[in-house]
Amino acid sequence: SAHDIVVVGSCNTDFISYAPHLPKEGETLTGTKFETGCGGKGANQCVAAGKLGAKTAMITKVGDDIFGSQFLESFKASKVKCDHVGVVNGVSTGVAAISVADDGANCIIIVPGANNLLTVEDVHGAGETIKSSKVLVCQNEISLDVTHAALKFAHNHNVKCIFNPAPAQADLQSDFFTIPDIFCVNETEAEIMTGVTVNSLESAYAASKILIEGKKCQSVIITLGSNGCIYQAKKDDKPVHVPTAKVDAVDTTGAGDSFIGSLAFYICKFPHLSMTEMLRRANKIAAMSVTKRGTQISFPTAAELPVDLLE
Ligand code: RIB
Ligand code: NA
Repeated sequence: SAHDIVVVGSCNTDFISYAPHLPKEGETLTGTKFETGCGGKGANQCVAAGKLGAKTAMITKVGDDIFGSQFLESFKASKVKCDHVGVVNGVSTGVAAISVADDGANCIIIVPGANNLLTVEDVHGAGETIKSSKVLVCQNEISLDVTHAALKFAHNHNVKCIFNPAPAQADLQSDFFTIPDIFCVNETEAEIMTGVTVNSLESAYAASKILIEGKKCQSVIITLGSNGCIYQAKKDDKPVHVPTAKVDAVDTTGAGDSFIGSLAFYICKFPHLSMTEMLRRANKIAAMSVTKRGTQISFPTAAELPVDLLE
């Protein structure tokens, strides 16, 4: 294929304030540090895979502000193909106001800006790029109809689809569950979609059962933060738990994106590995990312990985 991975998704400039704890309602807090960086779940997942050495392409929209230019530069630096990165006049690039507490917990407000202007026509205009990729990755930070068009188009052209419906939305239409080859959510997203509070392995298995048997997902990954993830390959298969080593978390923002980008990388570049092994490695890379501040900037490059992750 001309590309390994194509992402149809968002760009947000991250404004990250670090503070001792997350603010409560009405509270004004004095933070300790401020950083900006290129983020957004779509761009993060694309860059995560690109930094590991996958050939990536991004289908997205940014505004004609300084942040949009920064995205174009950062994509170039990570060798992401930008033929289908639209720059919209008079609109702001997506932004994310992020607070990160000392224990690594975060909360985020997103203002989508140009992300909301990506259209179904844009997806079809990028049809050749999608067709010539091995894996399509979508999230939930652009219009649902655009994500739907991307999943459908890719699926019809035998491109493997990974869907990460984050941030979560209740009442997703059935295609969003049935079309993707891999449906990947975290604990909160799993809860919103299944009604099961995911706070243990048992409850994660229960949520996975609902996603596979009730919602008819083809395969399910539920990420569990420092507990790694669970994976269920198909109906009647038992879910497997893929644990991960504990690390000292500095900033968990984007860890899920690092995980998904890494998984897509392994699917394309190391297809002979078992899914469990790919997930073990993706867990490991995501754990590396939480030991550094920021999102894309904290994702490891191939050169930074322990050698056994690239064998
Ligand atoms: O998943 C982390 C990302 O979520 C951040 O980069 C922020 O932009 C939000 O989209
Ligand atoms: Na990080």
